[in-house]
Amino acid sequence: MFRLALLGCFATANAYLWPNPALDQVETILYEILPGTTGIASFVQPCDTFTGTGGTTSGRSNAADWIRTAYHDMATHNVTAGTGGLDASIRFAEEQARAENAGDGFSNTLTVLAGFSTRYVSVADTLALGTVIAVEECGGPQIPYRAGRVDATEANLPGVPQPQDPLQSHIATFAREGFTQTEMISLVACGHTFGGVTHSAFPTIAPALTDPLNTQSVAHFDTTNVHFDNNVATEYISGITQNPLVVGSNDTTNSDKRIFGSDGNVTMQSFANSPDLFASTCATLLARMLDTVPSGVELSDVITPMPVKPTTPIFTLDGDVLKFTGRVRFWNLTANANRVVLLLWDDHHGGVRNSTLLSSLKSSTTYPYGVATSFIFGNSSDAGLSLDAAAGIKTMRFSVDGELQDQGGVGFAVQDGFAFSTTSCFFGNNATAQYDVAVRVLCFYSLAVLTQCRSATA
Ligand code: HEM
Repeated sequence: MFRLALLGCFATANAYLWPNPALDQVETILYEILPGTTGIASFVQPCDTFTGTGGTTSGRSNAADWIRTAYHDMATHNVTAGTGGLDASIRFAEEQARAENAGDGFSNTLTVLAGFSTRYVSVADTLALGTVIAVEECGGPQIPYRAGRVDATEANLPGVPQPQDPLQSHIATFAREGFTQTEMISLVACGHTFGGVTHSAFPTIAPALTDPLNTQSVAHFDTTNVHFDNNVATEYISGITQNPLVVGSNDTTNSDKRIFGSDGNVTMQSFANSPDLFASTCATLLARMLDTVPSGVELSDVITPMPVKPTTPIFTLDGDVLKFTGRVRFWNLTANANRVVLLLWDDHHGGVRNSTLLSSLKSSTTYPYGVATSFIFGNSSDAGLSLDAAAGIKTMRFSVDGELQDQGGVGFAVQDGFAFSTTSCFFGNNATAQYDVAVRVLCFYSLAVLTQCRSATA
């Protein structure tokens, strides 16, 4: 509900201009989510999924591990010096060995999320994506996501708050991170709506249990520990909380009790009164937490679904013909039984051409946040369009039911400077291939490699 409302606010302008391979990847990760199938979301669906020891009967969850990891990675930030922040420095053994980073939640998190990093998506970006997706998939608000975090090359200075620290130290720590006292209360509540304290990491706070459904003896912060909701506040305010950092037997480590009560419970009372206020506050503060990065790191605009998103086109030269394959995805098209979709393009000779994509409707997929409708280039199969190789293609535009989609007049720039040649050959089971590459020189292609194909064993 919250995500859809916020999408409405964001969806007025494109987050970026296509092509942008880095942001294209992130947009796909964020919005082409089919829970339970593939991608980051499949590791937090259902929300009690836990890929560490004990699985779903451990009492732990990936969602909670991921959110705590993002906070601990960020918590070294010094807003004055511009050092630390969300930069994946938590992946260094030196940081994980510190008492302030007790437990195996960080290594568990990195085992999953770092696997989604690519040449375009840093490990730090995957930590941020993990938090956004975990919160959203488990009942929480949409968290505006920006891309572009840069991975640290060494451990940061220590600085994560610990339960035994006094209140003034917590206030000072959050101020150093860039958050006020009220924001500290809120952010701790937003995080502690998930998970709990694990016996092995904090044996003096979480007692050993003999529960076959909680084999890691986790003392949960609220009764809905794999779900985002304001129960962390309602249970606290109504005096029935089991939060081990509020009602723990050793008052020295009752940090949530000191933090939540530090403004006379005003903030926690407001969250208990209003799940919507809790959700919107958490969306804002978790976004700020994720966007807390070392100075000099520039993040992108908030990534929203691209209304028109081509895939990277592929060109193949076949004599005088340039085969042009690819597809385009439209987001949330309004229904139209008489839909007409055109691909228009400018060629290198100043010509304007077009091809109807109506009969090439490829697929329509309903995602949690919208419907993606894809059309392939060409009008009947994946064979693509056949272009005059000399004329080539410079820029694409699309027309949907007469309405031009051209990124505000910029168009969708296409690079046809290189093409694979059909003289390339593939050697069956040996999985070897010879790629002949054609390079565009002025108005024709010359083959950079032109060899006679032979069998791999010849
Ligand atoms: C003074 C500040 C904080 C203190 C002292 C504190 C302390 C703790 C402790 C002792 C645990 C138990 C960890 C374990 O057993 O593995 C924990 C868990 C957790 N914390 Fe915090 N925390 C603080 C702030 C935050 C913030 C700001 C967030 C995120 C916004 C957060 C998110 C979490 C989450 C999600 C867990 C559950 C982890 C799990 O169940 O695997 N914490 N915290």
